[in-house]
Amino acid sequence: MDLDLEAKKVLLRKIPHGLFICGVREGDEVNGFTASWVTQGSFDPPLVVMAVRAEGSSHGIIQRTKLFSLNFLKSDQKDLAAVFFKPQTALGGRFESAPFEFGDLGLPILDNAIGAIECELIGEVVHGDHTVFVGEVKTATLKNDVQPLNLSSTGWTYGG
Ligand SMILES: Cc1cc2nc3c(=O)[nH]c(=O)nc-3n(C[C@H](O)[C@H](O)[C@H](O)COP(=O)(O)O)c2cc1C
Repeated sequence: MDLDLEAKKVLLRKIPHGLFICGVREGDEVNGFTASWVTQGSFDPPLVVMAVRAEGSSHGIIQRTKLFSLNFLKSDQKDLAAVFFKPQTALGGRFESAPFEFGDLGLPILDNAIGAIECELIGEVVHGDHTVFVGEVKTATLKNDVQPLNLSSTGWTYGG
């Protein structure tokens, strides 16, 4: 049976997504990128699932360190999301636009966002152009409990 590629694209783009800044750190190197393929995967233990582009610079850092943070963007932070998906001159340069501190697990937590979680990697599915990472939520920092930024409000697409 042939896959209807147009129907597949239209349908997959209807999956609702939020927008997050995923933070990683390896030694002195810190990086962050915009992620939308994120969802919760378990209540107990609390798990999150995130798909990361296999060719991106953060992918290997997550595999090696087995750690990542997720910063939850506010509804008015579209410009910041754009900073974190555009190419950068040097690893970590995007954080010049966004002050941060390190959380208890040593991962970047933005000063100005809804909040952030830090996760330990407990599993991965390495198949295709993105790797599906499963992380257990180890810390949670709530800064401003306001409306989140949703992909549908931006006019951008990532999916299909
Ligand atoms: C709207 C939007 C959503 C994105 N969502 C993801 C995502 O869920 N996972 C991912 O790996 N990349 C995603 N990206 C692409 C990354 O943000 C982009 O490839 C980034 O440059 C990767 O940074 P890095 O190579 O420094 O890790 C998205 C891009 C856009 C425009």
